[in-house]
Amino acid sequence: MKLNLVAAGVLLAFGLAAHAAPLIIKYSHVVADVTPKGQAAIKFKELAEKKLPGKVEIQVFPNSQLFGDGKEMEALLLGDVQIIAPSLAKFGKYTKQIQIFDLPFLFDDIGAVDRFQASKEGQSLLTSMSKKGIMGFGYLHNGMKQLSANVPLGMPSDAKGLKFRIQASDVLEEQFKAVGGNPQKLAFAEVYQSLQTGVVDGTENPWSNIYSKKFHEVQKYVMDSNHGVLDYMVIGNAKWWAGLPPDIQKGLTEAMNESIKFGNKVAFDEDMAFRAKVIADNKAKVLPMSKEHLKAWRTAMQPVWKKFEGDIGKDLMAAALKANK
Ligand code: LMR
Repeated sequence: MKLNLVAAGVLLAFGLAAHAAPLIIKYSHVVADVTPKGQAAIKFKELAEKKLPGKVEIQVFPNSQLFGDGKEMEALLLGDVQIIAPSLAKFGKYTKQIQIFDLPFLFDDIGAVDRFQASKEGQSLLTSMSKKGIMGFGYLHNGMKQLSANVPLGMPSDAKGLKFRIQASDVLEEQFKAVGGNPQKLAFAEVYQSLQTGVVDGTENPWSNIYSKKFHEVQKYVMDSNHGVLDYMVIGNAKWWAGLPPDIQKGLTEAMNESIKFGNKVAFDEDMAFRAKVIADNKAKVLPMSKEHLKAWRTAMQPVWKKFEGDIGKDLMAAALKANK
């Protein structure tokens, strides 16, 4: 009888271990599922749960459902969410160097951004915030940003006096000040309404965000400006990560790398398709920028580079410029 009881106890313990609850991992972001980031997050869930069956459950929260801008970084550091992928414009509080990605006209195209991110200098930024409790899994593309407003923004002087929504970035603040605009830092979730109600007159975002959040329905013009990049760093809470068992770390790392590759492919392959959808909707007019327009904007942006080169470092800027072919 006693033996039977012991055996039953052992069996029960086994059963419990076999059915231990999976580790819940929350991945929160602010954009729509159809965007490169949205798709990468869904892919991560799929891959991680396949590689670590029963061991992890990935909960993806898109569209600022769980945390919006501003709150998501705090939540990560508090452990309320484990993975987020803020735009590179949103790290200014934690590191000055990552501001490099916001410098207007630094990168010729997303290919150049990709090469810089893969370089020794680019990769070193992924671990630059570890002392602050943030670990970088990798970079994830969205795309080049396009300017939009209710007037065409051909020449820099066209932006004078207009209010622009910007991400929480001091570089982007200077970018619009340099052309006489009034920049306002607003959370991504507030952009549509701010444009609709005239709180701001214009903004900047890549095609996938413009289309999926319908910004083109509340803007008269979108310029083909490609004047800067909006990419992400996928990050985790460093302490949480360090406490995970090695097999879980391995499975999650593989899933993360593959999901980033997938998201980057979406970014490369679908950017022009999102642009085409904006055009097909026929709500905002998409306008080209001539060589003369672009030259004038580039010249107007030179003071922005000067202002931030001390914080960012000339070496890093040289490495970025080298990535342009
Ligand atoms: C924005 O705030 O405009 C973007 O950073 C949103 C995003 O995550 O793409």
